Amino acid sequence: MQKISFPGDFIWGCASSAYQVEGSWNEDGKGPSIWDTFVHTPGKIAGNETGDVSTDHYHRYKEDVALMKELGLDAYRFSTAWSRIMPDGSGKVNQAGLGFYDRLVDELLGNKIEPYICLFHYDLPQALQDKGGWPNRDTAYAFADYARLMSDHFSDRVKVWFTHNEPWVSAMAGYFSGEHAPGIKDPLTGFKALHHLFLSHGLAAEAIRASAKQPLKIGITLNLNPVYPASAAKKDREATRRMDTALNRLQLDPFLKGTTPLQEFAVGKVLSKSIVKPGDLEKMHSLDLLGVNYYSRTVARYDPKFPVVAAKQVFPDGNEYSRMWEIYPEGIYELLKRIWKDYFTPGSVKPGVDEKAAPEIMITENGVPIPDGVDFDGRVRDERRIRYLRTHLYQVHRAMQEGIPVRGYFHWSLMDNFEWALGYAPRFGMIYVDYETLNRTIKDSGRWFAGVIRENGFEL
Ligand code: FCB
Repeated sequence: MQKISFPGDFIWGCASSAYQVEGSWNEDGKGPSIWDTFVHTPGKIAGNETGDVSTDHYHRYKEDVALMKELGLDAYRFSTAWSRIMPDGSGKVNQAGLGFYDRLVDELLGNKIEPYICLFHYDLPQALQDKGGWPNRDTAYAFADYARLMSDHFSDRVKVWFTHNEPWVSAMAGYFSGEHAPGIKDPLTGFKALHHLFLSHGLAAEAIRASAKQPLKIGITLNLNPVYPASAAKKDREATRRMDTALNRLQLDPFLKGTTPLQEFAVGKVLSKSIVKPGDLEKMHSLDLLGVNYYSRTVARYDPKFPVVAAKQVFPDGNEYSRMWEIYPEGIYELLKRIWKDYFTPGSVKPGVDEKAAPEIMITENGVPIPDGVDFDGRVRDERRIRYLRTHLYQVHRAMQEGIPVRGYFHWSLMDNFEWALGYAPRFGMIYVDYETLNRTIKDSGRWFAGVIRENGFEL
């Protein structure tokens, strides 16, 4: 049987985020975030579920770190709740909030699991939303102050930092489509938020480096979707190009080239004049680590009814789907190849930029929601997740065989958790959580993943 092997120093991990797992939404001095406000507004979340308790990771982190150790993880990527640390988003610091992350970081290090901190995963302090939120440029500067404080406090122990998780989703789901907090539905506002989120990455990267106690890696994680035309018709191919610009180039160009395709959209033209200030793009272009979050692909069809891109996503018949998305393993390979070709090969970077200083690439999220449950013998037989893992890891490996240096793979998620507007129904974890008892059970996929980590590969 043929075995797939990963490099000896490949990093295996799992990811999570503060609001999705911690619970304790108003404990120990934590201020409210936009997600606390949103979930407490009837009608926003499926079944009006909330993250008030969630998996109670805030109190059960020791048990969770023990489970990570049982899986054999090299690293754990988690986010910190800004309003736990700065209840008003700026100014006053809540020592108890820092204390929770101190305990978590120390517990991880004590178990030889590298902490990967992400400073923002959708949960803006409500106090800053009250002053305009991400569409207000001041929020970017407040974020840099928070980043400086965090680096000052944790950079003696934490070496890998992500500023943002999926800023495109923060902006577009939060301010353009309104499915996420704070629930604003306005295209122009969405683009404004996006620009300030991107700018805040650059400001925060500078602040983190300035107060770092040791050499650090600073990254960002982006949600990227390869886009394919629904048919060979010219209109669909053009729709695909526009969709790709809006989904992928809009995110990759600023961080990897220091440019933006914003002007390609009418709304972007307005913004480039009023919102983008001289020097902003240069500030964003500051990255040691590109985190790729891959779940699925997008198939695009021309449709003039849709704003900005005049294209809609369609779901071809006959493919495999999960509760949320199409399952398309080749997409992770094709995406990595495309990123490499367009952004990392000589000539693709901006003239004058040192090509050797190219950031590392890592898969920071990949996973699938599967309806699973505990069988009478106590096992969770989530075979579809094992198949998802196998096929996606195979495609990551394939890209690596072709010369793309992927440094690590983080599964989404460590355990079942609160899936934003969809509540608790989609289960993404390698660890099953019984939401009545909060008992945790490692699923078959978790056992399989532990084997992959032990062997540093798997049999085909
Ligand atoms: C990603 C988010 C993460 C989770 C997964 C399923 O877009 O970063 O919080 O919701 O999707």
